[in-house]
Amino acid sequence: MKATVGILPPMEEAKTTRKVILSGMQPTNDLTIGQYCGALRNWVDLQHEYDSLFCVVDLHAITVRQEPAKLRRRTLDVAAMYIAAGIDPAVSTLFVQSHVPEHTQLSWILTCLTGFGECSRMTQFKDKSAMHADNVNVGLFTYPILMAADILIYNADLVPVGEDQRQHLELTRNLAERFNFHYSPTFTVPEPFIPKVGAKIMSLQEPEKKMSKSDPNERATIFMVDTDDAIRSKVKRAVTDSGTDIVYDEKRAGVANLMTLYSITTGKTTAEIEKEFSGLGYAEFKEAVGEAIVAFLGPVRQRYTELRADEDALRATLRQGAEAARERARKVLRKVYKKTGFVEF
Ligand code: TRP
Repeated sequence: MKATVGILPPMEEAKTTRKVILSGMQPTNDLTIGQYCGALRNWVDLQHEYDSLFCVVDLHAITVRQEPAKLRRRTLDVAAMYIAAGIDPAVSTLFVQSHVPEHTQLSWILTCLTGFGECSRMTQFKDKSAMHADNVNVGLFTYPILMAADILIYNADLVPVGEDQRQHLELTRNLAERFNFHYSPTFTVPEPFIPKVGAKIMSLQEPEKKMSKSDPNERATIFMVDTDDAIRSKVKRAVTDSGTDIVYDEKRAGVANLMTLYSITTGKTTAEIEKEFSGLGYAEFKEAVGEAIVAFLGPVRQRYTELRADEDALRATLRQGAEAARERARKVLRKVYKKTGFVEF
């Protein structure tokens, strides 16, 4: 597939019949193979079935301190990676969260409907405030309300997210119901859309932990932009155990994780993999895994590099996405303002 930047707006008539999905990722670091397999690839499949909106949530990113230049660059990086992965801007509405100010505007109204205690119970807030003890800002606290606004402003039916976002989705549902009850039916109450047995990829260095884009140990994580050699080297040095045979056993987390990676990147089943490597050792296995990942990510990285090289085109695509998103968001916000009792401007 040649990397092209779509120019067609999403089909207007289809919107009324298809369910709406919305999701987003924070531009806080380079994307990992875990995010690609666990989230992005699913979005790519979903976009043809649903009226889809995908955003880069830069407003959420600043709940943790960011260097402005890096944030700007990474926002474009993530957007380009969405497209490289197969999100088609001619099919989906692809945009940057801060380009659609209606999210923030709705967020304030929802903030005034949220109990202090409700926000205090969010486990991600507790985790993140422990992780960033020197910067426990109020934005970190109200983060899930902004996320609720992202979702409700488009009346999304489904929200593809990971298990760690379930609690935020629950809050979103409560806020939608609360608004609908206090004023009148306005918002769709969204459902989380959590992939069944999603490919959960673990850290290469501590395979009991999920692979994370913010792991301080770079060798623990495979990034989408890693070079072939970096990928090979990380896999080669991946932590395994003192065993010798290649069999799937959850208790042997390191080998199990490499088998998962091999399975995802080659399409082979566990049984096939065990057979392929019976009698062989970790060295041969790791080499095969490394090569499989290289072959799997190569085309995506190539498209990404092409897209990222033409920043004007990328920005134009994001502008079109934001315009399409705003048109929808504005209508909903207008209604919400009216129901809330704000004097019409
Ligand atoms: N909180 C989400 C995460 O960290 C990102 C996010 C922000 C999001 N707004 C959203 C996800 C709306 C889905 C829908 O993963």
